[in-house]
Amino acid sequence: KNIVILISGRGSNMQAIVDANIPGARIAAVISNRPDAAGLAWAAERGIATAVLDHKAYASREDFDAALAQLIDGFQPQLVVLAGFMRILTADFTRRYEGRMLNIHPSLLPAFPGLHTHARALEMGCKVAGCTVHFVTAELDHGPIVSQGVVSLLPDDTPDSVAARVLQLEHQLYPDAVRRFVADELHIVAGKVASPAQPA
Ligand code: GRF
Repeated sequence: KNIVILISGRGSNMQAIVDANIPGARIAAVISNRPDAAGLAWAAERGIATAVLDHKAYASREDFDAALAQLIDGFQPQLVVLAGFMRILTADFTRRYEGRMLNIHPSLLPAFPGLHTHARALEMGCKVAGCTVHFVTAELDHGPIVSQGVVSLLPDDTPDSVAARVLQLEHQLYPDAVRRFVADELHIVAGKVASPAQPA
């Protein structure tokens, strides 16, 4: 299956997915909305096609998303992976890739959609934090949940220390979710990702 990965920065989740060498997966392109995204050079060095679509060059979100969809579709992906892609997407765009676009979010959704998730979890006195891989729907950081990873919050934790621990989990969880998608193991039933069948 062809996969297009969208990034905005460092791209460590993108790297984890590429390095996982998922059977049946071909990384068709890495696309960034920011020309200076560090992950672009990393991908290009490995011979992966890269492209930049600078959102600042577009008058509206609709115009940007239309151009982005055209660029993505040129690579004929079966799966679009958002990996630290820091743009809010229009409903038209999310509908176009319904059931074939994944995102990773650094909280245990539905808690803490949006930004500054770890700071908010610490502020609330949460005892655990984590990350969620989910299918993308029109509502930000919603959509059928594929998998979640949990870390305990410790007394001396800061948003940065939590982010570092959660990021390690992200790097395990996201390649595994992509592997399951590519293996046709992810099925959305009644708006939820069905649990894997129990062995008979
Ligand atoms: C990750 O924490 C991800 O959950 C969030 O943005 C960060 C991206 O990191 N959406 P990277 O660019 O994959 O290194």
